[in-house]
Amino acid sequence: MAAALVGSAAFYFYCQNHCLQVSRPVLDLGLDAPLRVLHLSDLHSASFGRGGRALYQMAVQLEPQLICITGDWIDAKDSAWRRTADALIQLTAVAPVVFVPGNHEHRSGRWPQIRPYLERGGVQVLCDDLLTLHTAVGPVSLLGLDERRGVTYGQYLSRRGGPAPDPYSQLFAALAQRPGPRLLLTHYPEQFCQKGGGGHSRHSFSLQLSGHAHGGQIRFPFPQGLIAPGQGLFPRYTAGLFTCRGQRLPSGSRPHGPALLVSRGLGNSFFPLRVQNRPEVILLTLR
Ligand SMILES: [Fe+2]
Repeated sequence: MAAALVGSAAFYFYCQNHCLQVSRPVLDLGLDAPLRVLHLSDLHSASFGRGGRALYQMAVQLEPQLICITGDWIDAKDSAWRRTADALIQLTAVAPVVFVPGNHEHRSGRWPQIRPYLERGGVQVLCDDLLTLHTAVGPVSLLGLDERRGVTYGQYLSRRGGPAPDPYSQLFAALAQRPGPRLLLTHYPEQFCQKGGGGHSRHSFSLQLSGHAHGGQIRFPFPQGLIAPGQGLFPRYTAGLFTCRGQRLPSGSRPHGPALLVSRGLGNSFFPLRVQNRPEVILLTLR
């Protein structure tokens, strides 16, 4: 009996940290044809299958038309980072891959080598850059933010507690002129809505994709998790869809203003345990 309990517990915790789980949110943007976007985040140099094979095969099965990666793919402590980068590069055989860095790529000190390595492999890296892709179902426009400026902006806002000069105004104004659904890629979900009316959601775009929160690590009995970097204990933005007012947005609904989608991520960093929080692969359908 005791051995069975121990075995069950071991299996449970193994799956919570190593077994992929697919989420399939839907967002109604009034598009003529649906667009399937694979959203991955926060791998932290974990490996799902040899060379990331399990993740690659899942991506093939899900048939996305676009793959968005929102940072922390490569952990700061990963000295064999090229192997982890190769697992990302192989996804370019499935669909166009767009990448924004997280705090770990920068903290590694290797970002000046990582960025050109990814770009040579066909990954489109956006650091305060705009990109319009022409997919089979029409154009989609993306703005990817570089997290170092984002941290500065977020810290500035939280110190002042209100609206501040926005270093991204010109980029958002340019994004608003682009065709198709307009996606914002940035590592930090907490910068979507800030106290006092600040945050990215005051600009005009369709959807922000973010990670960083790792699902709040322990999601039982805490609905949004126990702890997340940048949000502390009992965080708010750790998984799923949210409105620009910071409320949950049911899948399938049409948002009034920008929406936020937060990935629970695939790996761990300083907190090495997930509970009720399996590594997440998001197949988002925009329709
Ligand atoms: Fe992370």
